[in-house]
Amino acid sequence: MTDLQQDTAQHGEHTAPVEAWDAIAALYDQHVAPGESEVATAGLRLAGLQAGDTFLDVAAGPGGLSLPAARLGAKVLATDWSPKMIEHLNARVAAEGLDAEGRVMDCHALDLPNDTYDVTGSLFGVMLVPDQAQALREMVRVTKPGGHVLVMAYGSPSEFEALHAFIAAAQAVVPEFEGPAEDEPLLEFQVADPDVLRQRLIDAGLRDVTVDTNHHERITVRTGQQLWDWTIGSNPIPGILVADLTDRQRADIIQVLDGMVRERSGGDGPAVLTAPLNIGVGTK
Ligand SMILES: C[S@@+](CC[C@H](N)C(=O)[O-])C[C@H]1O[C@@H](n2cnc3c(N)ncnc32)[C@H](O)[C@@H]1O
Repeated sequence: MTDLQQDTAQHGEHTAPVEAWDAIAALYDQHVAPGESEVATAGLRLAGLQAGDTFLDVAAGPGGLSLPAARLGAKVLATDWSPKMIEHLNARVAAEGLDAEGRVMDCHALDLPNDTYDVTGSLFGVMLVPDQAQALREMVRVTKPGGHVLVMAYGSPSEFEALHAFIAAAQAVVPEFEGPAEDEPLLEFQVADPDVLRQRLIDAGLRDVTVDTNHHERITVRTGQQLWDWTIGSNPIPGILVADLTDRQRADIIQVLDGMVRERSGGDGPAVLTAPLNIGVGTK
């Protein structure tokens, strides 16, 4: 295990430090964020985003939600505490010529004025932070009265197919491989229960709160290597779990994943693995 992975593993409640997010920013940009645009656009529509609106993205990564918002015609400020994530976002914005800007900022203390944005959103971001109540209060604070707050988070981990495929492949190669510790639920799933998400949005000061559970993230892959890259790039935790494996064991896991992908796709075309979503929207 590298020092960074050791730090991350010991950082309490599986909270990865900013350096761990910096370390996977390129993989996230290449293998994860591009596949999020369909579900991101669905969330933005549920939040009522209109062309010309001001939109703030919180824990924006390389732009899984910001880029679709800008493509819908919003004026976007994208914030994330990881400088590398923001570098990738700004590169995508420049390449597409979008009306968006990235700024490094911690979501627990947004360096932004009150009552400013028509819509404030977070895709798989505020979902996983340690003081979620504070982060949600900050999102509400900077939103205009009558504006909307959008929080997109994973639903039940038991239906997260990519995670289960990764753990099953690792256990096929290393039978004693352990997935995430069961006695310490991952912060990533703290609002997997839609009722918990609804209550947290109400507690943050929102009204007319709805939580839509009809959408799924669709992870589309053609090879075991792509499924490995998606998993390692999506969050620092999988990389920690496999940090002590040998190169040979990793190669064997990718081969097992390859077999799984082929079986799922029927050997023809890509395989699609799904993860359930909770899409929360409230009005300030
Ligand atoms: C799973 S990624 C989601 C990225 C992006 N929203 C997307 O879906 O494409 C989680 C993001 O949260 C960011 N993050 C984690 N803790 C944060 C904090 N305290 N303040 C701001 N960003 C944070 C990470 O740097 C990472 O970019």
